[in-house]
Amino acid sequence: MPKTKIFCDIADSKTIKEFNKKTIVDGFTTNPSLMRKAGAKSYEKYSKLLLKICKKKPISLEVFSDNINEMEKQALIINTWGKNIYVKIPVINSKGKFTGQLIKRLNKKKIKLNITAVYTVSQVKKINKCLDNRTKSIISIFSGRMADAGKDPVPIIKKAVQITNGKNRVEILWASTREPYNYVQAQKLGCQIITVPPKIIEKISNFGKSFDQLTKDTVKGFLVDSRKSNFKI
Ligand code: E4P
Repeated sequence: MPKTKIFCDIADSKTIKEFNKKTIVDGFTTNPSLMRKAGAKSYEKYSKLLLKICKKKPISLEVFSDNINEMEKQALIINTWGKNIYVKIPVINSKGKFTGQLIKRLNKKKIKLNITAVYTVSQVKKINKCLDNRTKSIISIFSGRMADAGKDPVPIIKKAVQITNGKNRVEILWASTREPYNYVQAQKLGCQIITVPPKIIEKISNFGKSFDQLTKDTVKGFLVDSRKSNFKI
């Protein structure tokens, strides 16, 4: 089975510093919400701080305009900040306009792209048509948010992997990971990348406990808590 790379889904600079040292982490993804959560005031200054910490591993930085021309300007600027950047472009703007023409123009300029907020096979097909195979690019499928809405991401990811199969520079990324097992699912489906919040990365690092050990740990946990609470009947 080909390796599924693990990216860390975070914008907090201290966490990036810590996780950049881990060999299990192959790269990073950020988004405007994570940047806000990290307390970024100036998008440029904060991004440059992250790029000082993460100099080699790929890092995705997203445009944040809702206007396609403005997105293009932002993408061109962001791309100049470092060689390891993937410029993240949402598949549509908030009005539902497909960013395909922009994706094509940036792809022609050999700018590495991460097309984000993708939910459907039809979006994957359209994006795939806009990408050549000369420049590395990523298509991020928001599996967890789908599952949050009661939808199964597995068939969509499976199809996306098939659609992009002929293009070795176009990678499918399992985004919005909700639990450690999503890594196993992503691997089985042949996803090239999964992006994972730091706490879940730690759990994946500890994979491998036997069922025997799990049952003992579970029973011990209940026992410890009962004793701590001094339960009596
Ligand atoms: C992907 O690149 C996104 O940053 C991320 O996976 C979104 O995850 P969320 O649904 O937990 O916000």
